Amino acid sequence: MNDFDWAAMADLLELEGETHSPYVRQALRELEHLTPRRVMDIGSGPGVTACRLAAVFPDAEVVAVDGSPELLARAEARAGRLGVRLRTRVAGFPEGLADLAAEAGPADLVWSGQVVHHVGDQQDALHRLAGLLAPGGVLAIVEGGLPPRWLPRDLGFGRPGLQDRLDAVQADRFNRMRAELPGSVAVVEDWPGMLRTAGLTEVRSRTFLVDHPAPLPDGPRASVRRQLERYRTVLGELLDAEDLTTLDRLLDPDAPEGVDRRTDLFLLTAKTVHFGQRPGLSGGS
Ligand SMILES: C[S@@+](CC[C@H](N)C(=O)[O-])C[C@H]1O[C@@H](n2cnc3c(N)ncnc32)[C@H](O)[C@@H]1O
Repeated sequence: MNDFDWAAMADLLELEGETHSPYVRQALRELEHLTPRRVMDIGSGPGVTACRLAAVFPDAEVVAVDGSPELLARAEARAGRLGVRLRTRVAGFPEGLADLAAEAGPADLVWSGQVVHHVGDQQDALHRLAGLLAPGGVLAIVEGGLPPRWLPRDLGFGRPGLQDRLDAVQADRFNRMRAELPGSVAVVEDWPGMLRTAGLTEVRSRTFLVDHPAPLPDGPRASVRRQLERYRTVLGELLDAEDLTTLDRLLDPDAPEGVDRRTDLFLLTAKTVHFGQRPGLSGGS
């Protein structure tokens, strides 16, 4: 699973999932005409979207699938708190998807959010995800979109444009992450084209805005803090000394100009969901 310690990222993933949930709600509105019997969330993490799927499709068997048992335990706890029906299953990708298809039975809806780019051969991953579908079933993958914006260009200290520089080093780190994945295959990341190559039809992409304006409420604010802390850890060596000092000042819990107290902190991002349908008789997209 590359160098990510997913279980250690549980809090971040759950907070981020909750903060970004407006896009999931909008995307699921595109699917509300479906009456799925089985729904799978592949790479569910702590289950924020899986629980939403279970709430939207209460008659369906919803299965959260992930390589991390710790994150699936979080998903179960969340489902218990929210009173929704959720099954969980541990599986490593891509190999584990074949067993899943054989054992769980075909799905009418497969959702996979921000997971395919963590698999070396992304086209193969899409083939395998499409292979989980019943005829007429719909695959929805979340890939691309726009990087988040949290900070004013000029923070009042440090060199203006910190967020742009964080984006740039994050993009480099992402390239390195992809190159180092086992079985990494370079591919033109034309997601609709790749869904068609995986045998799906009725392919379309929709982009949804996540817009939490300033001043940020506690949940989104905590999510920004977690993400900046992670950037400090994983991108720190790629930033210059001035930007590191700026980042430390932003993360200082006692500083009035830090992220815990700034009134100008916001969260703006866009998520793209690519939909495709397995040719067949039932379902619809
Ligand atoms: C970026 S998180 C996305 C979580 C959630 N889908 C969301 O949109 O917030 C990626 C998830 O995929 C899982 N994952 C990544 N690579 C995996 C692999 N090779 N096998 C199994 N699970 C994997 C991780 O455990 C993590 O929960």
